[in-house]
Amino acid sequence: MKVTLSVIKADIGGYVGHSGMHPRLMETAEEELKKAQDDGKILDFHVLRVGDDLQLIMTHTKGRDDEEIHKLAWDTFLKCTEEAKKLKLYGAGQDLLKDAFSGNIKGLGPGIAEMEFEERPSEPVIIFMADKTSPGAWNLPLYKIFGDPFNTAGLVIDPKMHDGFRFRVLDVYENKVVDFNLPEDTYDMLALIGATEHYIIKEVYRRDNGDIAAVSSTQKLSMMAGRYVGKDDPVLVVRSQSGFPAVGEVLEPFAFPHLVTGWMRGSHIGPLMPVAFHEANPSRFDGPPRVIAAGFQIAEGKLIGPRDMFDDPSFDEARRTANIMSDYIRRHGPFEPHRLHLQEMEYTTLPQVLKKLKDRFKGI
Ligand code: 13P
Ligand code: 13P
Ligand code: MG
Ligand code: MG
Repeated sequence: MKVTLSVIKADIGGYVGHSGMHPRLMETAEEELKKAQDDGKILDFHVLRVGDDLQLIMTHTKGRDDEEIHKLAWDTFLKCTEEAKKLKLYGAGQDLLKDAFSGNIKGLGPGIAEMEFEERPSEPVIIFMADKTSPGAWNLPLYKIFGDPFNTAGLVIDPKMHDGFRFRVLDVYENKVVDFNLPEDTYDMLALIGATEHYIIKEVYRRDNGDIAAVSSTQKLSMMAGRYVGKDDPVLVVRSQSGFPAVGEVLEPFAFPHLVTGWMRGSHIGPLMPVAFHEANPSRFDGPPRVIAAGFQIAEGKLIGPRDMFDDPSFDEARRTANIMSDYIRRHGPFEPHRLHLQEMEYTTLPQVLKKLKDRFKGI
């Protein structure tokens, strides 16, 4: 059976500030998707959230980029925005309406990660969802999962994985993609994907049979007025087991809370902290950035789950390390590299500051 898994997300209002989500919004989303399921539009659904980002996880048989499915998500976000407005939640409709200004220029539309596949006899899938960061945050873990034998033992010892994986990388400035076959293209790919705000891993495929293995949300990335404005709290879908990395290999990279962009005002670097669903409330300096992992078994298109994969003491040290890193990096205040480079800052007031100081600059 061919199934499409669509994860469509948007920030439609934060509670309180940008730290979390009001339960009413999740209930509204559930009501809308239940109606769609009863009407036969979707096979199954699950609503989750990370921080202030609402995640609609849906299965259906209509393929990727299906208008009806995308409209369903859009209409659901609109309904949730109505609720958010009633409660005057922060930045109601942030990712949908240009007039709902929240001090954030990210409001271009929802983020989407979709994949279509022939359901295997057992189909374990992990959906990662992050807040206060951007899609480049997945580059490091994706490389480790599908390219690094020190992370993924299966690359060495599972004959089904031994041929390696193909990575599709997006150049967000040129809007072009380039494919890399690992392991032989490893060094070429690393030369690019280390620049996480410029080159972003979009998809990963098995090389032996071409099966889709992973897909990240990159749809919002674009250049506007000569400036890259597509930063967005991202999602990532990864298939697992039987020719793909084992569940534990997929989760393993997150035991290292690597530095990502997107903390406070989208303008700071901080560690990506793996947390249980109930801990996905970035509060300290609106952070540090969070990631949750929802595990599902897909059975005839039904979403069996989720299991809260980071709700496990084996990630306690990663959380502790992220807190220690946060203490350290926060002490830099407005200094780089805690604060992003000028051109990468999203909410920058610096052009205004420079304008004000224009006449005070003197030649020497
Ligand atoms: P599969 O090859 O069935 O994915 O099993 C590998 C495994 O689970 C090792 O941990
Ligand atoms: P969101 O992108 O999650 O709305 O966060 C905005 C922000 O930068 C808060 O500091
Ligand atoms: Mg927000
Ligand atoms: Mg957010």
